[in-house]
Amino acid sequence: MQVTRVAGALGARIGGVDPRDPAAFDDIKAALLEHEVVFFRGANLSEEEQFELGRRFGTPSIFPVQRLLGATEPRMTVIQDGPDSPNAADGWHTDATWLAEPPAYALLHMEKPPEVGGDTMWCSATAAYDQLAAPMQELLCSLRVIHDNESFIQGVYAKAGDAAPKIADGLREHYPPVEHPMVRTHPETGRRSIVFAWRFMNRIVGFSEHESKSLLTFIGEWVKEPRFHVRWQWEQGDLAIWDERSTLHRASADHWPQKRVIRRLEIDGDRPFFDPDVEPIFPSKFQPFTY
Ligand SMILES: [Fe+2]
Repeated sequence: MQVTRVAGALGARIGGVDPRDPAAFDDIKAALLEHEVVFFRGANLSEEEQFELGRRFGTPSIFPVQRLLGATEPRMTVIQDGPDSPNAADGWHTDATWLAEPPAYALLHMEKPPEVGGDTMWCSATAAYDQLAAPMQELLCSLRVIHDNESFIQGVYAKAGDAAPKIADGLREHYPPVEHPMVRTHPETGRRSIVFAWRFMNRIVGFSEHESKSLLTFIGEWVKEPRFHVRWQWEQGDLAIWDERSTLHRASADHWPQKRVIRRLEIDGDRPFFDPDVEPIFPSKFQPFTY
């Protein structure tokens, strides 16, 4: 298996193995834990093959909306952008932090790339943490944040038509606001990373609205630093797998009105926690910063 880094902070392309091969799985997972997002050019997985690979990582997620609509089996989400459905993931986030147990991994398979544009970007939330000044790290490690699904529900109203009020009520009832640490300890690598999803972060516990908004705005600006990022230009059949616990991602919605079809599978995760005593198994990717 060849693992080739494609950016300084995170991201590696994997070659020389078939992602369908069960014998390659341990090496693929180890590369993923180290590089946080891995890419297979032209993997060309069928839906079932994507499921099968996903199941090796854990339990494929049933998305809350699907669950509320009666689904008992996980389903692939097909994201179709086109003239009438511009891309909506155009801001840095990690997925569904309004869940008590947000996803651990995501597998994205490109069905139909646009002619040009439509890249996806990832940010290493571990690198972004590692390069903060020590007093800022200390502050962030002491904080907890309330996440909620209100902005997600606004999106449901925009898309779900007549079914929207029922889905909105169900989301509010079954998925109330949750508290997560601002910095989480990765359950497998011990690395610390910033938990960030602007849309879902309601308030920092114990802070005034002004303090909360100011600090979240700072973090939102900080994670935009290109040195924490990797950007992938999709070709048909490409597969990206990322660690939701240590990365943020966003679309670059510059392909409208072109068509772009992508298949996404999420894998269940556990409750984020912060443990000050855990030592990471990988060193920081940056020199300690002195300001
Ligand atoms: Fe996302």
